[in-house]
Amino acid sequence: MIKSELIEEIRTKTDIVQIVGEYVPMKKRGKNYLGLCPFHSEKTPSFTVSQDKQIYHCFGCGEGGNVFSFLMKIENIGFAESVQTLGERLGITVNAELRSPAEQTEKEKYFDIMDAANRYFVDSLNDQDGAMARTYLEKRGVSPEAVKAFQLGYAPDKWDGLLNHLFKKGVSTKDMEKLGLIIERTDKSGSYDRFRGRLMFPIHNIKGKVIGFSGRILTGTEEAKYINSPDSPVYNKGYSIYGIYVTKDEIKKARTAVLVEGNVDLVSCWQYGIRNAIAPLGTAFTQNQAKLIKRFADNVVIAYDRDNAGVIATAKSVEILKDEGLNVRVTSFTGGKDPDEALRSKGAESFLESIKDAKPWVEYKIMLAISRHDLKEIESRVKAAKEAAAIIAEEKDPLLQKGYINLVAEKLGYSSEDISAEVKRIGYYPKTGRTSDARRHTEKPKGKAEAAEEWIIKLASENAGVLEMLKSSLTIHDFTGELTRSIAEVLLSVDLAGVQDIPHKLLEMLPDEDSKKLLSRLLVSEYPNANADQSARDCINTIKGHHLKSRLEQLRSEIAEAEKQGLLDNLPVLHRQFKDTSEAYRSLSIS
Ligand code: CTP
Ligand code: MN
Repeated sequence: MIKSELIEEIRTKTDIVQIVGEYVPMKKRGKNYLGLCPFHSEKTPSFTVSQDKQIYHCFGCGEGGNVFSFLMKIENIGFAESVQTLGERLGITVNAELRSPAEQTEKEKYFDIMDAANRYFVDSLNDQDGAMARTYLEKRGVSPEAVKAFQLGYAPDKWDGLLNHLFKKGVSTKDMEKLGLIIERTDKSGSYDRFRGRLMFPIHNIKGKVIGFSGRILTGTEEAKYINSPDSPVYNKGYSIYGIYVTKDEIKKARTAVLVEGNVDLVSCWQYGIRNAIAPLGTAFTQNQAKLIKRFADNVVIAYDRDNAGVIATAKSVEILKDEGLNVRVTSFTGGKDPDEALRSKGAESFLESIKDAKPWVEYKIMLAISRHDLKEIESRVKAAKEAAAIIAEEKDPLLQKGYINLVAEKLGYSSEDISAEVKRIGYYPKTGRTSDARRHTEKPKGKAEAAEEWIIKLASENAGVLEMLKSSLTIHDFTGELTRSIAEVLLSVDLAGVQDIPHKLLEMLPDEDSKKLLSRLLVSEYPNANADQSARDCINTIKGHHLKSRLEQLRSEIAEAEKQGLLDNLPVLHRQFKDTSEAYRSLSIS
């Protein structure tokens, strides 16, 4: 366990606005900061950070908490690591063995081994073993600067080059195997290097640690063009992107990432001055890769290979990127089948032009569909129109639909009405279920009482006087909401006297995620009423009034029932109770 004083020190010395700002661009709105939520897709900002309270909350997806929970969530790390990371920034060392036991040191050991392997490959490229690889790079026109920036290396054409090198350094074969650097022989008589005679592309995580390798063959033989590291304790392909460590700062600056298919394309882009590109390590683009991009960019321009496989891969990637709330455009670069060729044949300017000219996916798809038909033939033209209409029907925005309809009409020589009729015939956005709006959670409307319960919780956690008032006038049974009750339980039962920062203490003590989300929402909410005591009293009255009113209704029906049944003996007591209750209700003077 990390000492709670140390956690508090790190939390209070850190500014959540600054930390969040490194991941999410935000604008100041009133007292709070507002931006697009990094945890769900949205187009209008509902992610709110309160600098006063050092708390964040998203009104869209409900996520919320303090700077530690933010870091844990966005970096996908544990609590201890979040404390340590923020501590490091302040120059406060959080004792490593205190944070997370064996596992952490184990991971560090693996990083060290990967680093040693990487250095071996880099050194090999420069010594006599690497002559062929150096010639290859030269032939392909890869500059020494690019080699250095991407730490390209060479795996010598030996069965045990890396194995021996690491073994001499004291690395066990078991660890090398776990990391996918060597492969055990099927007869279990020993192991051999996975990468042999290949140009090596190290894959870095976002912090710059080498986590895997991609090895490209140098000669055109029957072997696979690329051999890649398998998933390991430090490498998860679906979560990693090639080159992002090198280009992330430029991506962040431009808020735009250029997505190319091949590792070689990426290196060429960088060499030609397009420094905000990345490559997805093969064509199976994943949601987690999109999430990683979303941390640095709002826009993605796809420049995959210009062949059929490239178009299919583009379609898949577009869906996934859009699901993550990214704006996606697609290029139609010329001069080669991939960016590497295009750059070398037509130069950076032409390629940059195609990035600038990139079309939104729908438009790109329409043009692609049309381009596949011979427009001189009537029947082909009808086919093109129908295909285009089907694509347009998927677009939700009516103005965009209209624009595309006009575009297609003009291209194919029909009237806009003709195309529009075809689109209508197909039906508006028939594809559902994958849109991000469908995922947006809806809140059921709340009664007055529950709103008052929420509000008094907010006030009580921010104001010691209100907390006292709450304790003396309400009990846990007065809270009707499931979540408000679980927060009230902590507020009412825990001795918070002398606690410096009650909101943070509360967040820490709450038993479940949902009540934490509710509390963070309440804490970042601003309200115009300056008089906390007065609004607390109003809340208490509303809550009490709610109970008294239902008690009155209950008594009314009991009286009616007693009269109907002729149980006249019961009536005086019921009448007195009714009178007392209505007096209590009136004395609350609820507006
Ligand atoms: N890839 C792979 N395994 C293969 C082929 C490709 O993992 N057998 C991945 C690599 O990450 C590669 C990307 O898919 O970078 C794109 O493949 P390709 O276009 O064939 O490779 P490039 O890197 O563009 O290489 P080159 O330009 O030299 O053909
Ligand atoms: Mn390629």
